Amino acid sequence: MATAEQIKSLVKAYSLRDDEKFKTVVLQIAAHEAKLGHGSIAQELKKEADNIGKKPMIGRPLNIGSPMLDYTMPCLELKELIVSDTTLHKVERILIEYRNKNKLYKSGLSNRRKILLEGSPGTGKTMTASVIASELKLPLFTVQVDKMVTKFMGETSIRLRQIFESMSSTTGIYLFDEFDAIGADRSLDNEIGEMRRILNSFLQFIETDTSDSIIIAATNNQKILDKALFRRFDDVIHYDLPDDDQIQRLFNIKLEGYTKIGLYDSDIISSARGLSHSEISLICDDAIKESILYDSPITQAMIISLLNERHRIYQGKEA
Ligand SMILES: Nc1ncnc2c1ncn2[C@@H]1O[C@H](COP(=O)(O)OP(=O)(O)OP(=O)(O)O)[C@@H](O)[C@H]1O
Ligand SMILES: [Mg+2]
Repeated sequence: MATAEQIKSLVKAYSLRDDEKFKTVVLQIAAHEAKLGHGSIAQELKKEADNIGKKPMIGRPLNIGSPMLDYTMPCLELKELIVSDTTLHKVERILIEYRNKNKLYKSGLSNRRKILLEGSPGTGKTMTASVIASELKLPLFTVQVDKMVTKFMGETSIRLRQIFESMSSTTGIYLFDEFDAIGADRSLDNEIGEMRRILNSFLQFIETDTSDSIIIAATNNQKILDKALFRRFDDVIHYDLPDDDQIQRLFNIKLEGYTKIGLYDSDIISSARGLSHSEISLICDDAIKESILYDSPITQAMIISLLNERHRIYQGKEA
């Protein structure tokens, strides 16, 4: 008989879809049985162990531990996401519908769970996926598009299928970040447009998926946004550079506890215009670092100087 520890290891290896580990434990059990004089069961187990992992890739879902899926359990509250009211409302609606999915289901409806996030770089698209995962206490699986796409189209399709099968076996938030990369690498394309076919099959998978997982595709590439694409998603959420109100809220939340000065100064706001949420966050980090390193308080002049420095980088680039 296998020990409780061995059974525990088997279950763990299974849940991680770790074939090697699973095989090792089966062989350990076989050795244990052989020692007890149960030769035939030991032989049978060894034979079965040889077959582990030999099944073709198709149909075997991926899971935690797969190099194609980056697994995290984020910890980020919705209130940390500074966006327009329209965007916030749409994110809240995803959460509310997920929490009430059984209620909706009873009326023949389903919660919105196929979401496209689009907009400028550094405005919170990737962050939104973390917030949704955190608020719903679900794991976040970020699909490593570069590891999924290979120059062998057949293999890419198998990998894509595995990812969609994982969505059924492990409920979570599945983020295809910068997902336009799936169809964007023209150098991999050939005259019969296989890359385009991969993008199309990705869209078909999205359309036919009936799992409980939430699928989020994010892009800052406006070019791919055609009507055919919108149709596959339950919702499209747009992300913009922060307006004055968001700039003010960002400074407040990022510098909370570090400074008491009124950062709602109109000079700060006008100097921050045109920068993304991500850049403003980095400037706040820089200000905090400067204040720690030089043991000096964070001042408006310091913030404005960091903001101007950032603008100058762009001017330099454009020149
Ligand atoms: N709307 C926001 N509210 C609060 N913080 C933000 C917001 N957007 C960005 N940030 C900060 O900037 C970081 C980077 O943002 P994020 O990666 O979500 O941008 P993105 O829209 O995915 O950009 P890209 O299009 O380049 O992938 C976040 O981790 C967060 O610290
Ligand atoms: Mg992103």
